[in-house]
Amino acid sequence: MKKTLFSAAKPTGRLTLGNYLGAVENWVQMQDDYNSIFCVADLHSLTVPIEPSVLNDNSNAVFANYLACGLNPDKCVIYFQSHLKAHTEMGWLFNCLTHFGEANRMVAFKEKMQQKKEVLVGLFDYPILMAADILIHDAEVVPIGEDQRQHLELARTLAQRFNNKYGETFKIPTGLYPKIGAKIYDLQNPTKKMSKSDEDTSGTILLEDKPDVIVAKIKRAVTDSDTRIIASNDKPGVTNLLTIYSKLTNKTIKEAEQHFEGANYGKLKAETAEAVVETLKPVQDKFNYYMTHKDEMYAIAKQGVEKVAKYATNKVDVVKEKMGLICPK
Ligand code: TYM
Repeated sequence: MKKTLFSAAKPTGRLTLGNYLGAVENWVQMQDDYNSIFCVADLHSLTVPIEPSVLNDNSNAVFANYLACGLNPDKCVIYFQSHLKAHTEMGWLFNCLTHFGEANRMVAFKEKMQQKKEVLVGLFDYPILMAADILIHDAEVVPIGEDQRQHLELARTLAQRFNNKYGETFKIPTGLYPKIGAKIYDLQNPTKKMSKSDEDTSGTILLEDKPDVIVAKIKRAVTDSDTRIIASNDKPGVTNLLTIYSKLTNKTIKEAEQHFEGANYGKLKAETAEAVVETLKPVQDKFNYYMTHKDEMYAIAKQGVEKVAKYATNKVDVVKEKMGLICPK
């Protein structure tokens, strides 16, 4: 019996190179080895103010990019989160299992709260919905980037708490983080993570960016005055480019440093841009295909949710009953 793997991305924006290197690329490599389930976490996108048409378009684009990057519906399940009611239902049950202080400690919430004019309760609550996303499927493996570590810890805590309080019910999920690329940084501000929700996209490579845009963004990437091409804490811009280059060319950071020994930043940027363009070219071709064949995507999503709905719905029923709710007979 294969273990269950679950992961997701929220369509608050278009997928970035950070999403690809920190998560989606791993998903593609792991989809054969697990009972793999991926969703477009559209409900999570409502945690920030978003225009309906933008959410709609982003949700299609994220789904299309999952397929374009290599998720294969013959090997894994892909669906839209809002098509499976078990997510929100389990989310409520977990709200009533989570302490306010626990939710209040989430760093991602604190950071976002400082940036936003309008802070929604959903934003505060979203790690709890994320725990529900994972646990309705009894997922044991959750491949994610570094920024989701604290949220995954909360999912583990809630699973353990439920088991202790109501008896063995959930498997305890484990987060899987890539060795290289677990956190890709903004090209203009390389101490901040590359984010799809940023309005200013000059430091963000979107999977849909055209080759000339990718080349220009990488050319303008912040480096520093010292010319050595090495990965170190005091050279965040160079380290970030080396990370992207290494990951895309299947080299270790050491090998990449050796490759660029004695070279200038121009060469590092040109070869990194080339690696990104080459990687994204086939992805973009497939992306364009799916965005013009949405019916195919929706058929995949329908089949996907049908495969997992029964298990997840049953899981919610088990949890409700254990918590003392009377289930319809
Ligand atoms: P999201 O949509 O912000 O990101 C999707 C995935 O991409 C990773 N990631 C990065 N990795 C490396 N460098 C970066 N700059 C970078 N930016 C993003 C994220 O770590 C994530 O793995 N809450 C989640 C979505 C979600 C989820 C879930 C994930 C909802 N339910 C259940 C796992 C399990 C989120 O906001 O990811």
